[in-house]
Amino acid sequence: MRSFLFVPADSEKKLSKAASCGADALILDLEDSVALSAKDTARTAAAAYLKTADRTGPKLVVRINALDTPFWEKDLEAVIPAKPDMIVVPKTLSGDCVKKVGEHIDKLGGGEEIGIGCVATETAASLFTLGTYGGSHPRLSFLTWGAEDLAAALGARDNKDEQGLYTGPYQLARTLTLLGAVAAGVQPVDGVWKDFRDEKGLEAEARAAARDGFTGKMAIHPAQVAIINEVFTPSDSDLAHARAVVEAFEKAGDVGVVALDGVMLDIPHLKQARALLARAER
Ligand code: COA
Ligand code: MG
Repeated sequence: MRSFLFVPADSEKKLSKAASCGADALILDLEDSVALSAKDTARTAAAAYLKTADRTGPKLVVRINALDTPFWEKDLEAVIPAKPDMIVVPKTLSGDCVKKVGEHIDKLGGGEEIGIGCVATETAASLFTLGTYGGSHPRLSFLTWGAEDLAAALGARDNKDEQGLYTGPYQLARTLTLLGAVAAGVQPVDGVWKDFRDEKGLEAEARAAARDGFTGKMAIHPAQVAIINEVFTPSDSDLAHARAVVEAFEKAGDVGVVALDGVMLDIPHLKQARALLARAER
């Protein structure tokens, strides 16, 4: 899944537009985009949406409230019977949070196909546990990161510098999320680009994420979806290069290193090429 579009679940208007935005997944949000006074409305609307939506469209994901709120269990009780494809848990502190939510979904009779994604960097303590997600629960499907709540938790005045680039704490959070997700064998998903009128900025950030190994990105506005899909779809030239790498190794027989167009390629390059081709086939 390349693009995950957040849709505040208390907004009838946004819910009605969401399925036609081209996103691979919609995240019906019950958490930070919903006012405290609208939590019940959002929960009911998300469950109703799941029940009536055309399930051949985008994957349907629900972001529940954090585990330190009085809402998360009610959120699960309302939406699990309506069979979401996945649950997103915000402000996770470690793999134990995945276990807790995973077991609660089990208890509610949720099918084993219901996955769990985590926003795993929203408190200071969360940054010390990004290596704990592997093996936490079989439902774990992706990790993503957030810079806004982390900045609030740190009492920061801003999370970007004069050039508009994330400062140290947020770059660390992003990197640890990538490493934690790959170490856990799940999808690393880049966080949101807030400035939704700045499409160039979004594209640059998405390309940087794809270069580092992220395979998808969160969106907050319909206009962001096509850009994200484009960036995270392997291009024809990427695929052609990957095929050339695999062929070069096949032709060379049982060797560990080959040359292609004046560049040394060894086993990690072959692995990368195979992984890209496998992702394109999915
Ligand atoms: N999902 C579905 N539809 C959306 C949408 C979204 N996330 N964001 C905007 N739209 C719709 C608007 O309702 C509007 O519809 P219209 O053409 O029928 O009037 C259209 O897309 C254009 O929106 P625009 O006017 O450019 O933006 P806005 O001022 O209405 O909304 C935000 C801006 C940021 C409030 C809105 O994009 C949003 O709510 N995003 C999600 C926020 C969120 O979930 N945050 C939590 C995760 S970080
Ligand atoms: Mg938040």
